[in-house]
Amino acid sequence: MWLYSFSEVYYHAFGRWRDPAQARLLDAGCGTGMGIQQIRHLAPGAEVHACDLSSASLKVAAQRIEALGQGTVAFHQMDLLDLSALPGRFDAIFCSGVVHHTGDPVQALRQLKSKLKPDGVLYLMLYSRFGRRPTMLMRRVLQLLEADVSLGSELIAALPKDHFLARWEYETKGGLNLTHREWFIDTYLNAQEKNYSIGEVFSDLREAGLRFVRFAHPQWWELHHRMQAPPEMARRFASLPEQQRYELMEHLFSDQEEYFFLATHEDYQPVAAPRDPAGWTAVRSAFARNRGLQPDGGSLWQGYFGMGLSVDGYFEPLIEGCNGRQSLQEMCAAWNLAHPQDPPELSLAVLSQMEIQGVLFFREL
Ligand SMILES: C[S@@+](CC[C@H](N)C(=O)[O-])C[C@H]1O[C@@H](n2cnc3c(N)ncnc32)[C@H](O)[C@@H]1O
Repeated sequence: MWLYSFSEVYYHAFGRWRDPAQARLLDAGCGTGMGIQQIRHLAPGAEVHACDLSSASLKVAAQRIEALGQGTVAFHQMDLLDLSALPGRFDAIFCSGVVHHTGDPVQALRQLKSKLKPDGVLYLMLYSRFGRRPTMLMRRVLQLLEADVSLGSELIAALPKDHFLARWEYETKGGLNLTHREWFIDTYLNAQEKNYSIGEVFSDLREAGLRFVRFAHPQWWELHHRMQAPPEMARRFASLPEQQRYELMEHLFSDQEEYFFLATHEDYQPVAAPRDPAGWTAVRSAFARNRGLQPDGGSLWQGYFGMGLSVDGYFEPLIEGCNGRQSLQEMCAAWNLAHPQDPPELSLAVLSQMEIQGVLFFREL
């Protein structure tokens, strides 16, 4: 999963590529290590740390890393509400599905901030209040009944098939929560869980001194990606401040159960990258490899944002040529020579589009 790639999260927060071998990375609330395995794999040479409250989960995580032969990871049993004993600060902290379970999310965010280097990036996943409405309501029902796993599963299995929760459970989750005890407990009987609205995401980040940078899937939050809006609606949408645009989208399309996003220190200003085509090069993202042949002879690529992009055979050589060895100017000149009928600026425009989609990095030569 692209969100566990240090180079990608750093680049998409700050517009600069960093060598992972120089990075210190932390998986905060690592659970049984599904994330660490990917962090380790995608950042060869990095110093990787992981912490969790649960010693049982840490043990499984350590076994996983050992079984995969992934080298060293420093494990710490620690409460996210007090990370003071954790050594040093980190270039990136990955914290997926944890802050909302801590009982004091603002304190957890403050602790994460205290462990983030001044130009560090924080990847967070938080639960959405609207997307998780079915589970929030059922959790309360089960609380009122003082139900355990077996009574809770029976109740859900007995719901009318067109009940919104039954549909969510069977159609969206394939009944997974009902067949796995741990999933059931995590979904319906979790002792602590805060479900967030966009307003709450932004206010908790502000209180903790953090700055929202971007969603991992920006296309979900753009009106024109979701619907063909009447022009006046599109115009008013575009004129709203950032937070209100997101609020509007979460009310209009309440289908995201989880918010995936990047944050930094509140005072950090991303470096505006001057991209002189003679001094910069392009490299294909680690995630641009899922390419397969399309019926029209083109190929399908998947960049950092997980969107499938169809590239026709015409532009394929241009993208294929992005290997980090030639300057943008040289790559574009070669393609322009083969396509004299096209305006010369087209090649650079196509590469810039690919960079926005997460298929390419731009990097200084
Ligand atoms: C839903 S799991 C997520 C695990 C992992 N990040 C992943 O994506 O697979 C939540 C994890 O948060 C941990 N956790 C909950 N409260 C915590 C706290 N106060 N301090 C540290 N870890 C905590 C739990 O032990 C659990 O491993």
